[in-house]
Amino acid sequence: MSKWLDNAIFYEIYPQSFCDTNGDGIGDFQGIIDKLDYIRELGCNAIWINPCFLSPFGDAGYDVADYCKVAPRYGTNEDLKRVFKEVHKRDMHVLLDLVPGHTSVEHPWFRESMKAARNEYTDRYVWTDVVWTAPEGMGCLRGISERDGACAINFFSSQPALNYGFYQPDPKQKWQQSMEDEGPRATLAAMEDVMRFWLNMGCDGFRVDMAGSLVKNDPEGKGTIRLWQKVRDFLDAEFPDAAMVSEWGEPDKSLQGGFHMDFLLHFGPSHYNDLFRCEEPYFSSRGKGDVSEFVAKYLENYEKSEKKGLICIPSGNHDMDRLARSLHGDELKVAFAFLLSMPGAPFIYYGDEIGMHYVEGLTSVEGGYNRTGSRSPMQWDDTTNAGFSSAPSEELYIAMDPDKNRPTAKAQMEDPDSLYHEVQKLIQIRQNHKALQSRGEISFVYAEKNAYPLVYLREAGEEKILVVINPSAKEQSFCSDLAPAKTLYSFGGEVHTENGTITVPGGSAGFYLL
Ligand code: GLC
Ligand code: CA
Repeated sequence: MSKWLDNAIFYEIYPQSFCDTNGDGIGDFQGIIDKLDYIRELGCNAIWINPCFLSPFGDAGYDVADYCKVAPRYGTNEDLKRVFKEVHKRDMHVLLDLVPGHTSVEHPWFRESMKAARNEYTDRYVWTDVVWTAPEGMGCLRGISERDGACAINFFSSQPALNYGFYQPDPKQKWQQSMEDEGPRATLAAMEDVMRFWLNMGCDGFRVDMAGSLVKNDPEGKGTIRLWQKVRDFLDAEFPDAAMVSEWGEPDKSLQGGFHMDFLLHFGPSHYNDLFRCEEPYFSSRGKGDVSEFVAKYLENYEKSEKKGLICIPSGNHDMDRLARSLHGDELKVAFAFLLSMPGAPFIYYGDEIGMHYVEGLTSVEGGYNRTGSRSPMQWDDTTNAGFSSAPSEELYIAMDPDKNRPTAKAQMEDPDSLYHEVQKLIQIRQNHKALQSRGEISFVYAEKNAYPLVYLREAGEEKILVVINPSAKEQSFCSDLAPAKTLYSFGGEVHTENGTITVPGGSAGFYLL
């Protein structure tokens, strides 16, 4: 089993925007290699690279045209293999992004599948039998194939849905296949081949895109769980160490499906956005937020997944607004104290460790739309293009943050009071205490409606750590007979205990041994 996940701290690399080493304005594999020491020094011991495969880039690479060939703009398969090697040399691990739900319209499978004459790929996608019949409840693509039929899509219209079958095919809709039909089984086998290809080359596992929606007409996810259990059998037999992290957001289902960890999502019922991304986020110093619904939902998932607690909370990702769009200055430090003391593996989105901004007003790049502002080039230093690329600035993949005071890694590394150093310190403390790591248990001590602070207990074996977080600018208190014995970490001042009341300074975070 992938033991390393127990204390993994991930750094998400959006390869386009990380580091460009050949001056074409777009990040590349050599750039990732060049910056591995930076990531290691921050304290992260694992990376997740967004899709880097051949693609027409209608959705920044989430529209794959060849699963087993990297996009030339990043380098060659050999270069990616070097990334794996360099990562391992530093005692780190790497997840690739697997997009099993759909391909791009340019994938040879889809081109074959569009042909009128029956062939090996006819059933690779979810097609209806007549172009005028749209698949119920799904978007579809039609009018571009010689074949009669409409093809279901998963996301943008250029992302046709691969066919893993229907959980309960409607007998009146003859085109709906069951999971056990030949076409769906062949799709799964093909996806296993893709996984086998990269695992053999040295990657350590996958972050799986939209993992919960592969089987259609499957409202409770039973079919999709069964599908992933088959993948688990395959991995157990051939790659028992491969790590699997799902974009699913329902850990009771994904863990049953054999995933090791699941993401907390910024859409759906998680209340994740209450924390950082809403009008009055809990982590704003205004102190008008509410954490209680987030905690209730979190606990519900935690219980349902038998306290395995493997829900990963990201600082952000390529799909959501930058953390620094709604939080500023010390608020970010307090937010990281939370992110780095929760169960599951933390995921730091590149640049969040220095508080990179959401760049306002950008025109969409490669299907980014509102997400484009969170995908701007990493700011390394104060040289041209912040050290990201030597290309003329108008040739960059996405424009740099134009702010003269934009944060850079270099300046923050030189400033002991920077966000970078706070994140680094928090990571070190987490890595020195099992209770704070992925599998340490959590129980909430204080998480009341419209109230501050947020207090929880992390435990592993004999170790008990009380985490007290007060993002609001005002001093707050709560009743408790817990007695913080030793301070492991404090930012913004320590708590004060008297007669069963614990008083917490405004804008503070602390970890205390009990
Ligand atoms: C996931 C990805 C997102 C992509 C979508 C379709 O949500 O994170 O970036 O656009 O799936 O593949
Ligand atoms: Ca480049």
